[in-house]
Amino acid sequence: MENQKSYHMSAEAFRRLGYRLIDWIADYQERADEYPVLSQSQPGAIRAKLPPHPPQQGEDLQRIFADLESIILPGITHWQSPNFFAYFPANTSGPAILGELLSAGLGVQGMLWATSPACTELETHVMDWMVEALGLPQQFNSRGQGGGVIQDSASSAAVCAIIAARERINQLHSNEAGCDGQLTAYASTQAHSSIEKGVKIAGIGRNNLRLIEVDVNHAVIPEALEHAIQADIAAGKKPFFVSATIGTTASNGMDPLPQIGAIAQKYGLWFHVDGAMSGVAAICQEYRHLQEGLHLADSYCTNPHKWMFTNFDCDCFFVADRKALIQSLSILPEYLRNKATESGAVIDYRDWQVSLGRRFRALKLWMVLRHYGIEGLQYHIRRHIQLAQEFAAWVRADQNFELAAPAPLNLVCFRHRGGDEINQAIMDRINQSGKMYFSHTKLHDRFTLRLCIAQTRTERQHVENAWQLIKHTATQLSGKA
Ligand SMILES: Cc1ncc(COP(=O)(O)O)c(C=O)c1O
Repeated sequence: MENQKSYHMSAEAFRRLGYRLIDWIADYQERADEYPVLSQSQPGAIRAKLPPHPPQQGEDLQRIFADLESIILPGITHWQSPNFFAYFPANTSGPAILGELLSAGLGVQGMLWATSPACTELETHVMDWMVEALGLPQQFNSRGQGGGVIQDSASSAAVCAIIAARERINQLHSNEAGCDGQLTAYASTQAHSSIEKGVKIAGIGRNNLRLIEVDVNHAVIPEALEHAIQADIAAGKKPFFVSATIGTTASNGMDPLPQIGAIAQKYGLWFHVDGAMSGVAAICQEYRHLQEGLHLADSYCTNPHKWMFTNFDCDCFFVADRKALIQSLSILPEYLRNKATESGAVIDYRDWQVSLGRRFRALKLWMVLRHYGIEGLQYHIRRHIQLAQEFAAWVRADQNFELAAPAPLNLVCFRHRGGDEINQAIMDRINQSGKMYFSHTKLHDRFTLRLCIAQTRTERQHVENAWQLIKHTATQLSGKA
């Protein structure tokens, strides 16, 4: 047979480029603080630098490095900068990146146990490790009725929880016949928008989501929840799902899980708890009280891809009764039938999520847990919290600023006493400077600054610089300079 031509990258070229790319990433991580944190790019500027048509002939990928510097980096907001304090973080680390690379290198698609037993079994095992590491209630351990699965995001976890809840109350009927508009779901006014999205995706209808009032600390008021449920029952509706949050996005508000869980039990609602960022703090014993009441939950999620040095995407989603989830999402077309599945002795994670295909995400979590150990993770999480507490103390001590919410962990919500306009101006001016990046929210209808300390390389000096810059900018803007 005639020699076949190949366009594939040779192993040798892959090695050369790969080593260089790892060097590039290592350098980037070390100098991430040298870039303007918030990209200064204007809309369309990146595309304008790219060729309008795809290359007809392949190119030498060595050229990619020049393009990275000149085209891509100007359009990057540097989430890995130690001066990144915005939103909730998406931190990463060496072991996580290597795990991600390994996942791509193995190229496994783990939809079924049979399509790569290690992909499934490592995931189950690492999720049980997470139950232990975070001190989660045993109902989430796969050795009982429950278990964990890695989802791409907390949003997907919410969708799965809502669908499982819908099918539980409707005894799998809505999977067959669709929803009848009678189900009602509950979350606080401070719940993440993913709950609303999940309710829409699951066909519940946004009008059937009740957003329950919160107290002065942005935690849901249990009596208001119960009243809403009772009113719906009286109106002939079917309450079926309630979500609570450990660490709301806007202000790190902590919902009272024991009370909400008790109400969920009383009225037969599925109780989902969203600990997207803050749940990770439970790796330290002293923050476990924040998940008190979690034993009442039907499902729980927390994101190592936010605050546990595991690059996006990695959401740990746990259910107390895996059967309820699997029955809701299970499909078995002929082409996926196999002996292992039919034996009932294995987990097929395609039945635990929306998509069929799935990446080998457990590798990066495994690498992170093994590299840091619980001790290393505790050290860095405690450090972030300690730095945030110092920042909060500086705010408290400054007569021009005030705290806008309790700061139980690593998020500080604060504001200049001069009103919305100056707070907005402080944030805009600083973010445009590229020196650091932080974000805002509205609390009690007032513009509030948020500083979240969770970057892998953030140290005291970065937090100190941030505070000095905020104070200095405030002085300039208030005309007192
Ligand atoms: C409390 C909370 N829940 C859910 C999410 C959604 O996370 P994901 O991006 O993993 O869907 C966020 C994102 O910041 C969040 O803060």
